[in-house]
Parts: sequence; structure tokens; C-alpha cells
Amino acid sequence: MTKGQIVTGLDIGTSTIKILVAQKRPYALEVLASASIPSFGLRRGVVVNIEETAKNIQRLVDRVQKDNNININSVFVNINGSHLYITPSDGVISVSRADQRISEEDVERVLQAARVINIPSNEEILDVFPKEFIIDDQKGIKHPEGLTGIRLEAKVILLCYFQSYFTNLTNAVWNAKLQTSDIVPSVLASAEAVLTPQQKELGVALIDIGSDTTSLAVFEEGDLIHLAVFPLGSANITKDIAIGLKTEFNIAEDIKKQHGSCMFSKTDAGKKALAKKKIEIFNDTASLSFTEKDLANIIEPRVSEILDLMQKELKKIGRQEMLPGGVVITGGGAKLPKIKELVRQQLKLTCEIGIIKGLENMEQDPALATVAGLVLGGTEMDGEGHGAMVGLGFAKNFFSKFKKMFRVFIP
Ligand SMILES: Nc1ncnc2c1ncn2[C@@H]1O[C@H](COP(=O)(O)OP(=O)(O)OP(=O)(O)O)[C@@H](O)[C@H]1O
Ligand SMILES: [Mg+2]
Repeated sequence: MTKGQIVTGLDIGTSTIKILVAQKRPYALEVLASASIPSFGLRRGVVVNIEETAKNIQRLVDRVQKDNNININSVFVNINGSHLYITPSDGVISVSRADQRISEEDVERVLQAARVINIPSNEEILDVFPKEFIIDDQKGIKHPEGLTGIRLEAKVILLCYFQSYFTNLTNAVWNAKLQTSDIVPSVLASAEAVLTPQQKELGVALIDIGSDTTSLAVFEEGDLIHLAVFPLGSANITKDIAIGLKTEFNIAEDIKKQHGSCMFSKTDAGKKALAKKKIEIFNDTASLSFTEKDLANIIEPRVSEILDLMQKELKKIGRQEMLPGGVVITGGGAKLPKIKELVRQQLKLTCEIGIIKGLENMEQDPALATVAGLVLGGTEMDGEGHGAMVGLGFAKNFFSKFKKMFRVFIP
């Protein structure tokens, strides 16, 4: 990205659509605008109503443009939903040059070969993440260019998606009269915003708890090694509260945010008295009475169920209790008090709430991680989405160098 250029991130979430506009200054990235609007056209992370989604996007963009006197033409957009999945693959080629030096073109060719797999006709590959290269019999190579050999092999993971969900998403953006600079899985954008290179090197799990989805991305030796999205999120907690306290969703949502916690430890100072203290809520439609403990007893099993899913994924890849960089949580669901403690207890890993890096005054809101990551990753490219990565920075960025670029233009 050139100096002064504006980069816009658009996080189309199930509960809210968030936008963030930033401009590159000589020493920092300056936030020009940050705003959100309730979202109604999605279910479990995917667009189910294109018109409704487009209308909300357009409303948000119009407001931000008017209030800040800026023009937004092109956006970096998230993709989410449990249709996103990864699958391992590999490719082999013969090194092309007579002197056997591996060129950038060879690397691209071997990764292209790794993309050739059988996937159902309604699915496509979004990105390819190299895990290691093997030159002749030499394993574990991260940067093969310039090295010599006859046979080059790549072990990769492919990130796949359902074509129709992707099209619905891009159509919603298009209908809102915006160009798409690129499309990135929400959890990879969140990871970009909050994880340090050291955590990624050590081994770390990023868990983004949104309203309708929870997604997991695991990194090791700097590379993405696993990704999964589940159709369960913080809105499920709200529904449980609505059922448990026999009240409406909106009231349950307020109760969750004001009084909710996912653990009620009897050992906490003063908690004995609190366990008995009634919280009473009266309004036109409801008269409720419950204790903090009652509420925690509703919330904890649901959060625990979500963490169980995470644990199963970590087990699948042999990283259960085995991540020195611990767990970092983002998404609005990370704001639930005591969630760190529950993660530590259940996953037996250190845990912290994601702190957004590199953008002023955004550190404290983990719900903004995805939109912040879209902007931070987008600044590595030029504002229009042209790849500008130098060298082979695999997974340093959420745009692996070999990503198929998605740019949707208005005709
Ligand atoms: N202070 C809080 N305490 C508990 N939960 C909260 C708090 N603030 C927000 N949440 C919850 O966070 C969720 C919204 O998070 P987020 O904005 O990350 O979701 P989203 O991106 O719209 O959804 P998704 O990523 O699943 O499509 C809501 O369910 C909301 O209730
Ligand atoms: Mg989200």
C-alpha cells in the first residue's frame, strides 16, 4: 500500500456488520472511521438474504461516507460459516532449470500441483497454505527458492468453501455498490489483528466467538495448521437465558451483557453473599428474579459445550494441551466475564483475550478483531488488493502469497 492510501475492512457478521476505514500515515495507521449496524440477512455466518444484507451494508457505508467526508469504493471482506474447511494435499514437480536451482516459478508450479485434488463440484479452493517443502529427500524446508534439487514436493493445507455461499456474499457486497479487494475467512482476519509472530511460532489457537459461529485457527512455526468453523456462538447463550429465565431474546441479551458470567466460583471473596442476592428486573412485559449464580449455571454449560468442540479439534491435530502459545479469544463472545478462566480450566492451556495491535484506540474490543484484521492485512497489499508481499512470507499474513485473488468489480 502506498502512503496515504485508504483501506477499508467490512466484517459482515451474523449480529452486526462492522466497518473500519484507515489511512496509512508515515508512522502509523490512522483510523478514519469505525462504525457498525445490526445485521439481519445472515444465518450462522453465511448470507441467506442478499438484498437485506446489501441494504444494511449500503446504509452503513453511506453513513460513514457522509459523516467523515470520505469515499469508499473497495473493501476487504470476511467470509465465515461452517462450510469453510481445510484439507491436506501435496504436489510434486521436477525442478525446471538446468542448473537445478529452484525458482519462484517452480514453487508456484508445485503449489499449483498441490491444488489438483478431487473436491465436490459445488466447492472451490480459496487458498493454499504450504506446511513444508521437500527437496529430493530433504524435509522440513520452508523457503525452497534458490536451493538446488531435482524433485520438489510441497505439503500443504487447502482452504475450501461452498461456491454458492461465496457467491451470495459477493453479490451482497456488489449490490451495495462496492468492489471487493479480497475475501478472507473471519478467523484468519482476527488472527492477523491479535496474534504476535512469536505466538504463531510457538503454537497458538485463536478462537473467535461470534454471535452464531465459533471458529478456530491453529498456528505453529508461523504457519496455519488447522481451521474449523462451528455453527454455535454467543447468541446460543442468549437463547439459553431466554429459555431458562422464560423471557424474550432481547431482554436475555441485556441480562447476559450486564450480569452474565461463565463461572461462578464459590471461593471468590464475597461470592457466598452474591450467590443468594437476587437480581430483579421489571419492565412492561417481564418481571424476573434470579441470582448471578443461577445465570452462570445457564451460561457455563453452553460455553463449555463450545470449548468441548475446540478441544476435539485440537485432539484431532494432536495439539490437545500442547500449545505453548496458548489460546487467544476474540469476537463479542470473548467479552463474557470469566471466559479466560473457563478456557484455562477446560482446555488446560494459557488464555488471553485478544488485544488488537497496530490501530489506535481499538485494543479493548475483541469484537472488532475481524474488521481490524481485514484492514491490517489489507495494508500489506495496495488499497485495491494487488498483492504486494515481498519474499515468501507464508502465513505471516492471512493472504498467503499463493492465494487466488478475488476482486469483484462493478461493471
Ligand atoms: N459484554 C458482553 N458480554 C457477553 N457477550 C457479549 C458482550 N458484548 C457482545 N456480546 C455477544 O457477542 C456476540 C456478537 O459478537 P460478534 O460481533 O463478534 O458476532 P458477529 O461477528 O456478528 O457474529 P458471527 O461472527 O458469528 O457471524 C453477540 O452474541 C453478543 O451477545
Ligand atoms: Mg464475527
